[in-house]
Amino acid sequence: MADELRFDGRVVLVTGAGGGLGREYALAFASKGASVVVNDLGGDAKGGGKNSAAADKVVEEIRSQGGRAVADYHSVEDGEKVVQTALDAFGRIDILINNAGILRDRSFGRISDLDWDLVHRVHLRGAFKVTRAAWPHMRKQKYGKIIMTSSTSGVLGNFGQANYSAAKLGLVGLSNTLSIEGSKYNIHCNSIVPLASSRLTQGIIPPDVMDVVKPEYVAPYVVYLCHESCPETGGVFQLAGGWAAELRWHQAAGVVLFGKGGQVPTPEMVRDNWDKVTDWSGPAKEFSNSGNFMAELLGKLQEAKEASVLAESKGTSS
Ligand code: NAI
Repeated sequence: MADELRFDGRVVLVTGAGGGLGREYALAFASKGASVVVNDLGGDAKGGGKNSAAADKVVEEIRSQGGRAVADYHSVEDGEKVVQTALDAFGRIDILINNAGILRDRSFGRISDLDWDLVHRVHLRGAFKVTRAAWPHMRKQKYGKIIMTSSTSGVLGNFGQANYSAAKLGLVGLSNTLSIEGSKYNIHCNSIVPLASSRLTQGIIPPDVMDVVKPEYVAPYVVYLCHESCPETGGVFQLAGGWAAELRWHQAAGVVLFGKGGQVPTPEMVRDNWDKVTDWSGPAKEFSNSGNFMAELLGKLQEAKEASVLAESKGTSS
């Protein structure tokens, strides 16, 4: 196939690739010619224990199909060591899929410090550590593709997952900033919000949904997002069972409130105008760039202040 998406010569590091979604990414990249680092600590779903078997099995699978792969058994908390495995084995790192994850679900009042810290250490700090270790190499070669794995629990919240939600939305923030800082070095960073049957979702996703959201259907989207021909960066993509859609922030119509002559508004003015703050009746406005937002805000504030001062001078101000 002439226009096949190939990854020959590219080195891909997939964290938590010993099972579930990570395994599918590793297999998919390897089948497209990439050299793959299969990182997995091999612990249980709550972050306990470790075992080299999970990563080894995926490496064997890739090699048996003629692909190139090495295993790495470090925790993502040891980001430098994980990235060093890629450098030692293949001499570079081009693509990083931050995927490793655990769950320690508890309703908010019952969350222990350990439940909070472990989830943050693996998801948010782990992604930070591995990405920071890969960053200077990507900068130097002026090429990098990074994926952060978020979750609907992060974007929308979910009962019993306060620790996980906070870490998962933190990853979107990290991804957004890396897409900005990475742009001049040709480093792209996107977030994904997957849904897939795996040991993490066993008992959470209903059985009939589990059957149709197999993790292998997510992998092609991640592979495309990481191909050199894909221009996307700073995006958030929801992926499930072959379905995909971009997610974005939107802003309601909003209002600028000033008291007499441009003074600070009263809480009563805020109450009386709240429907304008939450007015979604017009076309939804995209909210995606803090530079544009500030320029627009300055314009609106200036305009409203002038109107308020003018109204006061005419004696018509409320
Ligand atoms: P999984 O449990 O099958 O895979 C996660 C892998 O990460 C495991 O193989 C585990 O050993 C590894 N891991 C855990 N802690 C690690 C550490 N400290 N260092 C290195 N490896 C570690 O689960 P699944 O579902 O494939 O999850 C993959 C990612 O997708 C996770 O970040 C998860 O939070 C996220 N996700 C999954 C969803 C789903 O529907 N399956 C939904 C939303 C997000």
